[in-house]
Amino acid sequence: MDKILVHGGHRLSGSVKISGSKNSALPILAATLLTRESCTISRVPDLSDIHYMLTILSELGCEVERASGMVQIKAEKIKTQAPYEIVRKMRASVCILGPLLGREHEATVSLPGGCVIGDRPIDLHLQGFEALGAAVRVSGGNVKILAPNLRGAMVSMRSKFGSTVLGTGNVMMAAVLADGTTVIDGAAEEPEVVDLANFLIAMGAKIEGAGTRKITIEGVKELHGAEHEVIPDRIEAGTFLVAGAISGTEVTVSRVTPAHLTAVTGPLSEAGFDIKPNGNQITIRPGTKRSALKLDTVPYPGFPTDMQAQMCALLATTEGISVVTENVFPQRFMHIAELKRMGASIDLQGSTAVIRGVSQLSGAPVMASDLRASAALVLAGLQADGVTEVNRVYHIDRGYESIDEKLNELGARIERVKT
Ligand code: EPZ
Repeated sequence: MDKILVHGGHRLSGSVKISGSKNSALPILAATLLTRESCTISRVPDLSDIHYMLTILSELGCEVERASGMVQIKAEKIKTQAPYEIVRKMRASVCILGPLLGREHEATVSLPGGCVIGDRPIDLHLQGFEALGAAVRVSGGNVKILAPNLRGAMVSMRSKFGSTVLGTGNVMMAAVLADGTTVIDGAAEEPEVVDLANFLIAMGAKIEGAGTRKITIEGVKELHGAEHEVIPDRIEAGTFLVAGAISGTEVTVSRVTPAHLTAVTGPLSEAGFDIKPNGNQITIRPGTKRSALKLDTVPYPGFPTDMQAQMCALLATTEGISVVTENVFPQRFMHIAELKRMGASIDLQGSTAVIRGVSQLSGAPVMASDLRASAALVLAGLQADGVTEVNRVYHIDRGYESIDEKLNELGARIERVKT
């Protein structure tokens, strides 16, 4: 397992190109199952999660060709059962259920396990499919869904933690080929849901309201192949903005959509940083005075849970008392114990972290646990005195394309050590 050594105290400067969005690419790749014709998806990031999805699609019988950021997929004849061994490695593989149901009217996938950020139920996905007329059976760790006649219905995607992003996408992908009209109430409004809807519309689907709480889908008989470029990864962009903030330097992220980042740039401005959007770029530089923050993670368009760990790293080095409450995945605090090993002063009270800023963190060996917690530890290492050794770096490689190389190009000093 590789590890990353972050040598702290190096000033960053310059501009970093942001990759295509992991959380947009994954459901869009799954959506290619909905047509026998060839689809070409561009700006697909080179990540292990993407590799897992392409492997699952190949195992289902798809022809998959990949050349740098471009993926060509043709699902001419497909199976409807995904291999347990691969599915169990990535929860997001649950998003093949919707397209398999839409296309073949049946699907069998292993139930996703929980993960370190918390229980990851799919009850709303399954309730959505049942509303469309599917029969759902769970046995032997698999969920088997049969839907001889998919018909349009009213479906709710609300959970007590807010709407479900992949659940909204899954139901949308089942409904596009159902008979009649489906209305998704309490739909997730994330840009990744809009990107998926735009790809489905390019394939011939009839969808209105993506990006709002209410999405209406008119079922059609079949879908055709399409080309699509994935939107920029707003969480990768946010992560690099925090890298500039935590190292107290000027950093520009390019090839981004600033409108997707206002829920992150807003709090960074409140924290005292100077944020300058300019076309498809955003520049962050130190402001006059830094301020502690009170932050709550909520579904889009609010502050994203996927940026919570990274902001905790920044607030750990911001004078004053900050309070961060995690409302989407209340247990998503694996990074706190590791930040405390680096000298952070954080008190975890249920799903709230009370952070007393310190002037300087100190490098230490720390353990990566999930994708965003790992990124937060690398960011903390940029500011820390000495060397921070981040173990189990495969977590980072799931969602960040060459984060060490991109940070080194900005002036950081990060070594990847094969162990
Ligand atoms: C997507 O996960 C993202 N992953 C996550 O990003 C992100 O944190 C999450 O949305 C929230 O924004 C991908 O898009 C691949 P949810 P998803 O269903 O769709 C509860 C990252 O770091 N819920 O929106 O699986 C659930 O427990 C990853 O890139 C139910 O109760 O998340 C959670 O509390 C991590 N029942 C809340 O809803 C369900 O059937 C939001 O989960 C489904 C979800």
